[in-house]
Amino acid sequence: MIPYIRAREIGLTFRPKNREPVRAIKGLDVEVGRGEFVTLVGPSGCGKSTFLNIVLGLLRPDTGEVQIDGRRITGPGPERAMVFQEFGLLPWRTVLANVELGLELRAVPAAERHRRSLELIQMVGLTGFERHYPHELSGGMKQRVGLARALATDPEVLLMDEPFAALDAQTRDLMQTELLQIWEKSKKTVLFVTHSIEEAAYLSDRVVIISARPGRTKEIIKIDLPRPRDYEMRLTPQFNDLKLRIWETIKEELLVRAG
Ligand SMILES: Nc1ncnc2c1ncn2[C@@H]1O[C@H](COP(=O)(O)OP(=O)(O)OP(=O)(O)O)[C@@H](O)[C@H]1O
Ligand SMILES: [Mg+2]
Repeated sequence: MIPYIRAREIGLTFRPKNREPVRAIKGLDVEVGRGEFVTLVGPSGCGKSTFLNIVLGLLRPDTGEVQIDGRRITGPGPERAMVFQEFGLLPWRTVLANVELGLELRAVPAAERHRRSLELIQMVGLTGFERHYPHELSGGMKQRVGLARALATDPEVLLMDEPFAALDAQTRDLMQTELLQIWEKSKKTVLFVTHSIEEAAYLSDRVVIISARPGRTKEIIKIDLPRPRDYEMRLTPQFNDLKLRIWETIKEELLVRAG
């Protein structure tokens, strides 16, 4: 079976003017099946965000290529959307207007835009806050708006770059479970990035561990826990074994950086 997202031999070196080039990624291979949830973990600076930007189509790799559904990508496309760590909301737009943004850019008529956006606002649990502005929301609520906005255009692929990193621990737990519910319903293909081993093990079908810079694929760990998953599952020995396996592989890479 051909994977839905197939990134092979990806390499990218940043060449800032008047400074040393930075080789961010070298030989990164990632495959994601349709409807699969795959998470990338790896030390800070190993190129995770760079890689997501390549898959989104905002950056061109120097080597290798990314294919979606068998087609090489050359730029952004309607089948892909990104959810950012810092929410990326427009402060002068209300919740509703933020969620509508992508639909507006695609010239979806106003009535249809409204209907779809209100549906998504309900799905992420923000009904009643449609007319609020981002500064009137908590971090968790802003992240829900970011998620609703990404889902509004009904992309096949969700790219999520540490979407829950700015949240407090309990809101984060809640958002993880909600994301799983949304994912199970919507059957999206998700490529997720996190520094949390717990989060990676809880959410994913597979975890791709990336080496210290320049990032390459070091190991892929299959998370063969049953679904739907719930919080209690995190207390099982099987879950802890998986966390330990991920941690041991990452630890070697952290030591590379420290050494
Ligand atoms: N626009 C840029 N110009 C120059 N160097 C860059 C640029 N963007 C990223 N880099 C460098 O590329 C490397 C990879 O950065 P990237 O942001 O992809 O890492 P990351 O794995 O997402 O890290 P973190 O876990 O801290 O978010 C870093 O060394 C970074 O300094
Ligand atoms: Mg990053």
